Amino acid sequence: MLQKVKELDIQVEAFVPQSSEELEQFRIQMLGKKGAISQLFTEFKNVPVEQKREFGASLNILKTKAQEKIAQLKQSLEDKNVTSHNLDLSLPADPVKLGSRHPVALVHNEIVDIFARLGFTVFNGPEIEDDWHVFSALNFPPEHPARDMQDTFFVNQKDEVLLRTHTSSVQVRAMEAQKPPIRTIAPGRVYRNEAISARSHCMFHQIEGLYIDKDVSFADLKQTLLYFAKEFFGKDTKIRMRPSYFPFTEPSAEVDVSCSLCGGKGCNVCKYTGYLEILGAGMVDPNVLKASGIDDKIYTGYAFGLGLERIAMLKYGITDIRVLFENDVRFLEQFKSVF
Ligand code: PHE
Repeated sequence: MLQKVKELDIQVEAFVPQSSEELEQFRIQMLGKKGAISQLFTEFKNVPVEQKREFGASLNILKTKAQEKIAQLKQSLEDKNVTSHNLDLSLPADPVKLGSRHPVALVHNEIVDIFARLGFTVFNGPEIEDDWHVFSALNFPPEHPARDMQDTFFVNQKDEVLLRTHTSSVQVRAMEAQKPPIRTIAPGRVYRNEAISARSHCMFHQIEGLYIDKDVSFADLKQTLLYFAKEFFGKDTKIRMRPSYFPFTEPSAEVDVSCSLCGGKGCNVCKYTGYLEILGAGMVDPNVLKASGIDDKIYTGYAFGLGLERIAMLKYGITDIRVLFENDVRFLEQFKSVF
């Protein structure tokens, strides 16, 4: 009998499990109801009286030893399992993925910021407009081609409800709602029925500027735009004004900035002219002041409008406008900025 205890003791000593299943097997074999050690306990009564003491003591030692060994092996197998999942609790956590602003939003924020420094406040108008605010009040004659289905998306042609084709409609709303001095910028989406290509889209963004006060002159307009160009494109930027025509401004100009990529020397972005066209501007036509409820004998003003996609494309060297509307994160996540 004592011999049996010794044998089992050697077995317990030598046992090295490969898996927790194997360990459990071993536990049942030894300590289970019909296990080898339990079996010896049932045989205890058959042991001669004079051996009972020694046998009992060694059997109890064996049982405790087996229990302790199994518990220890179980723990070390569990620890091994944790590390085999490559879980290192001392590693820093995965960084939280941050979003990035859309390039059009970045340019928008920067421009609003620059004009805010000159005292311009943001004024918003609706995207779904009426003929009056988009065309009639802005001095478009009834037969003007811009009213045509070719350019304008009508929501309801009978009632002349349409998607605004420019943010100049907000000039009219700003003048209807406020008394001079008025100094507002109006950012927003505009829509035109144009074929979508690398250079044009049926939906884009503009920022409209409007300043109405006594004695506002063309020089004020020029100086404001020069300040903007230097702030946005860099302090060495020059501007150039070319005569143009808009029904709602007189005189009107198209404004170019010296090419920020080649510094005016000429490159393929500015088509070797050294200048890039960025906006339309002019002195608000007296007819527009009158239509919007402003006394054109007392007040004058200037207005300008610029396209955000165009400016974003120039700033970031984007050659196809469509990528700005595709929401491809691989493109969008490149733009990180403080704005
Ligand atoms: N609304 C004009 C456009 O969309 C831009 C403009 C705005 C021109 C204000 C002059 C004054 O092209």
